[in-house]
Amino acid sequence: MADQPTQVPATAARPSDCVSKSSEESTSTAAEKTSLAKHYSSLESIEQHRRVIERCAEALRTTYKSTGSYVPMIPWVDDDSKHIDEIYSGLMLETEEGLTDSERRSRVLETYGEIFEVKTKNGDPIHIAILKGEPGRGKSTLVKKMAYDWAVYIRVLQKYKLVFVLKMHALEQGCDVIDAISDQLLPWLTSSDRRVLDLYIQDSSDKVLFLMDGFDELMTSALCESSFGSVFHVLHRKKYTGCSVVVTTRPSHYANLYG
Ligand SMILES: Nc1ncnc2c1ncn2[C@@H]1O[C@H](COP(=O)(O)OP(=O)(O)OP(=O)(O)O)[C@@H](O)[C@H]1O
Ligand SMILES: [Mg+2]
Repeated sequence: MADQPTQVPATAARPSDCVSKSSEESTSTAAEKTSLAKHYSSLESIEQHRRVIERCAEALRTTYKSTGSYVPMIPWVDDDSKHIDEIYSGLMLETEEGLTDSERRSRVLETYGEIFEVKTKNGDPIHIAILKGEPGRGKSTLVKKMAYDWAVYIRVLQKYKLVFVLKMHALEQGCDVIDAISDQLLPWLTSSDRRVLDLYIQDSSDKVLFLMDGFDELMTSALCESSFGSVFHVLHRKKYTGCSVVVTTRPSHYANLYG
């Protein structure tokens, strides 16, 4: 989506940009419970499901607010990192995939929040955004910023109950999404937690955002569709189809994404 983003001055989040934790928590609606009743026979199991998802959300927020929120200043110096809020300057993103040909050429997004509002020419939301940028242009930093903003309850991302940042350099083409989440983000998941998470991502997919960073760094170089695991099925919209996905890549590998 973004080709050679240009840095523009930072705009700090205002209190009005944030929602409170309690209002976010209250989004566990009656509709959700009704939908869960299809899968569980007792209220206790539904409550247990809800607790697993809450625990996942809490653990993800903690990660994105702590280790995940530091950005290296000099890539080859490990201990020279700064907190993302100290250094982040906004990026200007250009869309390539817009509603019409003229928009495709000219639409410029000033805030990343607009990524989640772009629609097709039929007015349907776009579920997958590809952020394309040359090395060092700020793709990974933008992913960290989005995850951090979600973790501190910035309004634009609060429609998502769960946000998963997956580093693609640790993935192969056959990788399974839940395995990747467990390996990279939630190592404490039990097999029953994994089933709950899988069910949630399927059933409440509109509340799930995947931020897949560095498609060009994927461990597999020669892609073969018959070997694809669920990570690729998400990218190709064959699994968890209602989820939102932002994937970043260097331009060199853009064509391989849907090759
Ligand atoms: N929005 C930003 N505000 C301030 N500094 C930034 C921003 N984006 C990137 N930087 C600086 O540039 C460095 C490189 O950015 P980043 O790692 O995000 O690039 P990248 O596009 O992911 O590159 P690659 O293709 O190599 O993965 C960061 O470590 C940070 O120091
Ligand atoms: Mg990167």
